[in-house]
Amino acid sequence: MDVLEAIGGLRVVRRYQDRPLEAAHLEAILNAGRRASSSKNRQRWDFVVVTERAGLRALSEVGPYAGHVADAAAAIALVFPSPTGEKPHSTSWDLGLAAQNMILAAWSLGIGSCPITVYEPELARRILGYPADHECEQLLTFGYPADPEDLSRPLRGGRRRPLGDVVHRERW
Ligand SMILES: Cc1cc2nc3c(=O)[nH]c(=O)nc-3n(C[C@H](O)[C@H](O)[C@H](O)COP(=O)(O)O)c2cc1C
Repeated sequence: MDVLEAIGGLRVVRRYQDRPLEAAHLEAILNAGRRASSSKNRQRWDFVVVTERAGLRALSEVGPYAGHVADAAAAIALVFPSPTGEKPHSTSWDLGLAAQNMILAAWSLGIGSCPITVYEPELARRILGYPADHECEQLLTFGYPADPEDLSRPLRGGRRRPLGDVVHRERW
């Protein structure tokens, strides 16, 4: 799939088929995240992959908008080192690049995904077991779409601000 085609068709998918991701697909998604650029090439990320239903159900409690994690084929938690309890400079950018790589790689393989915000970090830590000097603010869910048309249906009009509103040329 062409990159512009993937970006143009991409949408969030929250309803999935009840079947696991093919192992090669999951590995391709993880490799796409690993391959991302990062500030000073620090690669301050670890990915915790959850595919067992019990773990996915538990993760569906980490936030008010996480219910569909329970029905996903996989969730990948984006974990970053946070020795001082704060988010190191540029980490949000780095994690965003890794996440978007995974999202686009998945899309090119016919797999839908959705970012999930963690509102209960201590619950996420108990479920996922990452160390005290690490944090997790986002997960990604993945699965083959329950409605395969999700992969080709255009976004509803108005879902994105028009280019003329967003772009300022030369000066604001
Ligand atoms: C940083 C971030 C956090 C998000 N958190 C959640 C979430 O907790 N639960 C959820 O269902 N969707 C979440 N989303 C998905 C957004 O709602 C979605 O990207 C947005 O509505 C655009 O969807 P579309 O691409 O299908 O138009 C999040 C997206 C981003 C980028």
